[in-house]
Amino acid sequence: MKQVTGDNREGFQEWANEYDNTLGKVKRHHKLLDLVVKVSGIKRNDQILDIGCGTGLLSLKFLTKTECTITAIDSSTQMLRIFEEKIEKCNLTKKIHCVQQSAEDMDFKPDQFDIIAATVALHHVENKQPVIKNIYDCLKGGGRFVIGEIDMDTTGRLDDPKRLLRILDYLKQELVLAMKEGGVQAFERMYDNGKKHILNDGEYCIGFAQWVKLCRNAGFKNVEVYPLKGFEWFKVLVATK
Ligand SMILES: C[S@@+](CC[C@H](N)C(=O)[O-])C[C@H]1O[C@@H](n2cnc3c(N)ncnc32)[C@H](O)[C@@H]1O
Repeated sequence: MKQVTGDNREGFQEWANEYDNTLGKVKRHHKLLDLVVKVSGIKRNDQILDIGCGTGLLSLKFLTKTECTITAIDSSTQMLRIFEEKIEKCNLTKKIHCVQQSAEDMDFKPDQFDIIAATVALHHVENKQPVIKNIYDCLKGGGRFVIGEIDMDTTGRLDDPKRLLRILDYLKQELVLAMKEGGVQAFERMYDNGKKHILNDGEYCIGFAQWVKLCRNAGFKNVEVYPLKGFEWFKVLVATK
């Protein structure tokens, strides 16, 4: 693993070991990743960048779909370590290249990738506009930026009761799902994450109207949003350069 920055957000280091047993067990998460792959328009030999790859669930789904090469970045060395174990085990070292790097510090060449994807990762970035502009620059002409994200506007004053109720509505559904599909371990993790959403503590979710605006401001002309059937709080966006 190439290490570029010393950024190691603590929560993710700690979560890494249990990630596949918590969010990784929630079927809705896999449906979201499957939709990202489906609408990405991936073609054989595409060059893909997976931002905030975690333990590699999305990258591996891209590779299952077709031959491609993937650069996978994450700020957490621990997440990448687990992903790299999978890469070795599946003999995929020629197909996936991991770099420890934050989305905010990406320094890829312009016009390099066919697809830049990120699933439930970019809402951790507080100042999203410069990151999305950088993503636009790194895509080839006709390339796609694809995100699978939570559709929840957590901007505004922390003590606004309407904001709090919005987040609690989301958490009610998410916590029930976590308990049902991932058990107590998943519930505990999602419960802890819930407080972070409420306090904007490393979690800065926005709604899809806001994501669309950020993409248009970055220069993307064509931006489409796809609902995740059965899960109103999750959507996928495809922005084409
Ligand atoms: C909820 S996990 C999602 C992992 C994977 N994309 C998935 O869908 O299973 C969020 C990931 O984003 C990473 N992350 C958080 N902030 C980041 C940042 N600013 N730059 C790069 N990665 C970041 C975390 O370390 C973590 O691995």
